[in-house]
Order: sequence, then C-alpha cells, then structure tokens
Amino acid sequence: MTFRSIRGTKDILPAETARWQFVESTIRTVFHRFNYKEIRTPIFEQTSLFARSIGELTDIVGKEMYTFTDRSDDSLTLRPEGTASVIRAYIQNNLGEAQPLVKVYYIGPMFRQERPQAGRLRQFHQFGAEAIGSPQPEVDAEIIAMTIQIYRELSLTEFSLKINSVGCEKCRPHYKEVLRSELRKIASQLSPDSQRRIEENPMRVLDSKDENDQKATASMPLITEHLCPECSQHFDDVKKYLKNLGIPFLVDGRLVRGLDYYTKTAFELTSTALGSQDALAGGGRYDLLTRELGGKETPGVGFAAGVERLMMVLDKKGMTREVDIKPTLFIAAADEASRDWTITAITNLRAKGIAAESDSLRRSLKAQMREADRQQAAYVIVVGQHELETGKASMKNMRTGQQQEVVLNDIAAHFPTSGT
Ligand code: HAM
Repeated sequence: MTFRSIRGTKDILPAETARWQFVESTIRTVFHRFNYKEIRTPIFEQTSLFARSIGELTDIVGKEMYTFTDRSDDSLTLRPEGTASVIRAYIQNNLGEAQPLVKVYYIGPMFRQERPQAGRLRQFHQFGAEAIGSPQPEVDAEIIAMTIQIYRELSLTEFSLKINSVGCEKCRPHYKEVLRSELRKIASQLSPDSQRRIEENPMRVLDSKDENDQKATASMPLITEHLCPECSQHFDDVKKYLKNLGIPFLVDGRLVRGLDYYTKTAFELTSTALGSQDALAGGGRYDLLTRELGGKETPGVGFAAGVERLMMVLDKKGMTREVDIKPTLFIAAADEASRDWTITAITNLRAKGIAAESDSLRRSLKAQMREADRQQAAYVIVVGQHELETGKASMKNMRTGQQQEVVLNDIAAHFPTSGT
C-alpha cells in the first residue's frame, strides 16, 4: 500500500522551500519595519472559540471546519484563521496591560474543508497581522498600507483594493432590517443560498457570487448610505489616509466578507492573475470581538493573506528569487583516510558557521566533483594522501577557476565565520 497526501493538502518540496523562505523573510522584514512582533498560537483551539468569533452562520463555521472530539470528549477545531486565536491569546495573557496598542503578526498553516481547486486548499498558509487597542482610522490605513507594501516588496503591483464600511452595533441592525424587507420583496428571484440568508445574514446576499443574485439585487440599498455619523466619519478618514498615502482603492458597498466579526472597515485585495479564487488578502476592523470572547471591549483591526495565492501570482510573473542554500565549500575525498579526515573537518567548519559539505555516498572522486558542481558549491578542495601528508591542499574558486593553497588545519581562516 502506498500513501498519498490528503486531498487539498500539498507538500512544499525542497525545490520550493527556498522560495517560500525568501517570501517569508520579505514578509517578516516588512512586518518588523511597521513594528509588528510575531505571535505563535496553537494550531487547534476549542471549537466554540471559532463559532463565537467567526459566527455560527458563516460558511467557515457551518461547513468548513476540521472539528474533532479528543479522548477527553472536548470538541476541538484546527484553526481556520488566525484572528480568533490571537484575540484569545491577547485576553488570556493580558497583553494589553503592558501597552495600550499591541501589534502582532503570524505566518502559518490554516485549515478549511473547502472544495479544493486552484488557489483553494484545505491546509493553506496565511500571513497576517492584528493591531489591538486603537479605534483610530490611521491604524486601518496602516494595516492596508502594510499589506500592500508586502506585495510591492515582492514586485507585485497588479492588484486592486476594495474597501467598505460594514457599520457598527448602532447602525447595522437598522440597515439590516431595511435591506431584509427589500430583499423579501425579490426573494423568489434569488438563489436558494441567498433566500436562506435573507433572514440569517441579509448583507451576505449582496456579496453573492451568483450572477442572477447580483442582477436581482442591483438596486438594493447599500450600507454606505446607512452608516451612523461615527462610522461615516471613520470611513471618510480611512479613505483620506489612503489617498494621502497614494493607495488607489475602490469603494464597494457590497463587500461584507465571510466572517461575522467585522465592524466599520472591511477590505479585500484581489488579483487578476488568479482565477475564480482571486482574493489575495482580506481584513478589517473588529471592535467588538474582544468583548465577544470574554475580554474587556478593545478595538482591533487586521488582515490575513494566502501564501499559496501569493506564490501563484509570483509564478505567473516568473519570479525566481529565493534564499540561497548552497555549500560554500565542498571537500572531496580521494580515499578512506581522507574521507575520515573530511568528516571531522566539515563538522568543525560547520561549527564555525561555514556551510561545508562532502560526499556521503562514498563515490568516486569524479562523481564527487560532479556533485560539487551540481550543488553549486562556491569552493572545492580535493583531499588525498598527498594533502594529508603535507597538511596543505589546493582550493578552487568554482566561479573564477582560480586556485589557492590552503593549510588543511586552517581552512576556516579563508571564510567569514560566525559559529563557536
Ligand atoms: P479570509 O478572507 O478568510 O480572512 O482569509 C484571508 C486570505 O486567506 C484569503 O484572501 C486567501 O488569500 C487566503 N485563503 C482563505 N481560504 C483559503 C483556502 N481555502 N485556500 C487558500 N487560501 C485561502 C481571514 O482569515 C481573517 N482572519 C483576516 C483578518 C485578520 N481580518 C482581521 N484580521
């Protein structure tokens, strides 16, 4: 019997990880520049954490979570997203006590049992950030600017930004009622999903991907026309800051997103380089979430983005930059005694911070030289009986072809060292 990976999961193979590392390190660099610090939360949590925060009636909670009962009969769920866990950790660890504004980021796997297709996986990776503690619109703008900066840093500029305000406790209930009563009038023209949502969550009807739904709801009232003065001011300020930052955006009054915790700002970044799953990133403000999860009412705003989708766009653009993992020095051994010497030598060199490599398959000298070439080692030393006797060898710079004599016990002197 042979085993295969689970549908919707993917091996990230050694040929790809160098690229992942490059992308991740770029993402981290930008996060650090914006003064966000990393947080790592567990991959599974109590099921009710996600039900409470993302919303019982959302697709994620209703259909997509990997939920299981453990041996203690607790209902646990593999995290479908990062925000709920971050807020749980924020409350549990009193992170707000030490500083009024907590800025954190995360990069890691998330799990949703969706129908797999291009750009949609069941285990996928997100990078995201949360700024917890400020109600101010400049933080919304910072989050959006940071998201965009990450893509720009990776030379991706072809995306569009849609923003909306989904209102707050004060204005949303009234708007929902207005919308609901309008939607009831056209219910028969809507898809079954949308019909159900009229009562459950009428705003999601406007976000339907179904073309008929879109046509039927074309003249429905939008939330942007029903915001309370506070939400309206906040939205205007976010737009002002985005304009000041030179970030183009489109206001889309139908954007509500698939998670229920949003208040005020909601945004999404899409790329035409992606297929039907065109969302690169999404986020927004969630001023009531901390209270909802049992903490003190604390405003927050954040975003998350799919790493695989980012990789797809980079692929389309032919982006090839990656973290170099190549040996600095390859030592080829001509015989058994030299091999024994080499094993000790490369281990000592590695301890000094030098990426040294040798052949572990006991191959011919010719095959070892081919291997050094294949691995693109920067320097190669061949050690044999003569070298061991004289304590000296010739080291070849593989790029220039130049040779230089080195003392075997002092090879490290030719390289920058960093280890012990
Ligand atoms: P989300 O829109 O559900 O938001 O996910 C963010 C991004 O994750 C999507 O735009 C997409 O790139 C990627 N993604 C989602 N599902 C999949 C999938 N099945 N396969 C591949 N990629 C996927 C959130 O998760 C919120 N927590 C964002 C947030 C943070 N809001 C405030 N703070």
